[in-house]
Amino acid sequence: MKISILGTGYVGLSTGVCMAEIGHYVTCIDINQQKINQLRQGFSPIYEPNLENLLQKNTKAGRLTFTTSHQEGLDSAEIIIIAVGTPQGEDGSPDLSYIIQCAKDISPYLTDGAIVVIKSTVPVGTNENIQKIIMNRCNRESTIKMASNPEFLRQGTAINDTLHPDRIIIGANKKEVAEKVGEMYLPLNAPMIMTSIRSAEMIKYASNAFLATKLSYINEIANLCEKVGADVTDIAVGMGADKRIGESFLQAGIGYGGSCFPKDVKALELTANQHGIHFSMLKETMRINNEQQVILVTKAKKRFGHLRARKIALLGLSFKPNTDDMRDAPSIKIAKSLANEGAEVIAYDPVANSNARKILGNTINYASSVEDAAIDADAIFIVTDWDEIKHLDVNILKKMRWPIIFDGRNCLDENIINALDIVEYYPVGRPSIIHPHQQTH
Ligand SMILES: NC(=O)c1ccc[n+]([C@@H]2O[C@H](COP(=O)([O-])OP(=O)(O)OC[C@H]3O[C@@H](n4cnc5c(N)ncnc54)[C@H](O)[C@@H]3O)[C@@H](O)[C@H]2O)c1
Repeated sequence: MKISILGTGYVGLSTGVCMAEIGHYVTCIDINQQKINQLRQGFSPIYEPNLENLLQKNTKAGRLTFTTSHQEGLDSAEIIIIAVGTPQGEDGSPDLSYIIQCAKDISPYLTDGAIVVIKSTVPVGTNENIQKIIMNRCNRESTIKMASNPEFLRQGTAINDTLHPDRIIIGANKKEVAEKVGEMYLPLNAPMIMTSIRSAEMIKYASNAFLATKLSYINEIANLCEKVGADVTDIAVGMGADKRIGESFLQAGIGYGGSCFPKDVKALELTANQHGIHFSMLKETMRINNEQQVILVTKAKKRFGHLRARKIALLGLSFKPNTDDMRDAPSIKIAKSLANEGAEVIAYDPVANSNARKILGNTINYASSVEDAAIDADAIFIVTDWDEIKHLDVNILKKMRWPIIFDGRNCLDENIINALDIVEYYPVGRPSIIHPHQQTH
């Protein structure tokens, strides 16, 4: 099948590479010339495990090409996938300007049989509006074929998720359109759910808001665990063993971030509001998350009294491991909050240092290794559970002024903590470990 994809970000590029991998002929279009140049040379502009291998392999096989030209990129495309960003606008609602621009860009080149598929996360009704824009510009009598096909990949495992999805949602108002989009995914052998366009658009928001709410729920349980002397990791195991609940998204910590959950929860709450439904549960999801993001700062202030001139090593900056994405990462709020308290912050991330610098600038300092960050630190904050951060080395801890760890991901194993002789260990929703034989400072 001949597929064109607009947008070579986390979703567009992963989709493009994977569609080529399963045998389709894919052209990726982006307005960013620099990205296209880089991609043509076989380099990925984003960090995503296994992406660059498949990019090079499929480009070499002649199944994957990149262009900034819509005329060239849309030539004889059977399916045109729109995967551009829908970031949160100033009023909290998704900014649809990139999608609208795509509709305008593709209109002159649409052939009769082509299907326009919106993969970006968009509020209910957006597909219909985009269809109208295209129809007006094409001056067509016949309806433009549209489908909604929301994406559920997770950054950090995007390639695996795209090749092995739990389900594929296809929303179309005509059976033959849904079937044609389904045909594209047949080699994946994944369950497909066909529905209306509006329902498909809604499934994406309902899913993300539910997952975010599950996280806020366990985080509030974690806060309660600290008060009553229970351990949230045991609670999560006990709850997750119940099939009705499931074990995923029950990891307590410093809350959710990233380019999707924060904006999607807000967008759903706004949609509900516009229709007279006060979805107060989502307001609470957001409130709990906002407070949770700075919980390590609160704990450190309690421990030290104040944070002025304290040197804090932030380990991990990206919103989750295995990505360089800093959009809405909890580390941003933590770093700013520590700086406001007068602390000296030195941060390290295996891949996100340079993206972090674009957001945080000189508010903090950047280290080139865990060890660099830890030297003379008063405390370590574990912010992102990258493998190299989870497996901290005892020799590194010895370089701190005094080994105190605030673990925002509950990722250090208790046996390791004891073996490493960490003086004080403060997780989230679990009992702290304070070695009695050591003098504190
Ligand atoms: N990132 C995720 O994990 C994820 C997961 C599921 C769904 N989504 C949704 O998918 C969409 C894309 O997200 P993303 O993270 O891939 O975005 P991104 O910001 O990483 O990438 C967007 C790309 O679109 C390009 N672009 C902008 N305007 C364009 C145009 N007119 N024509 C061609 N290209 C254009 C940009 O240059 C950029 O490369 C969003 O709606 C997001 O909510 C994201």
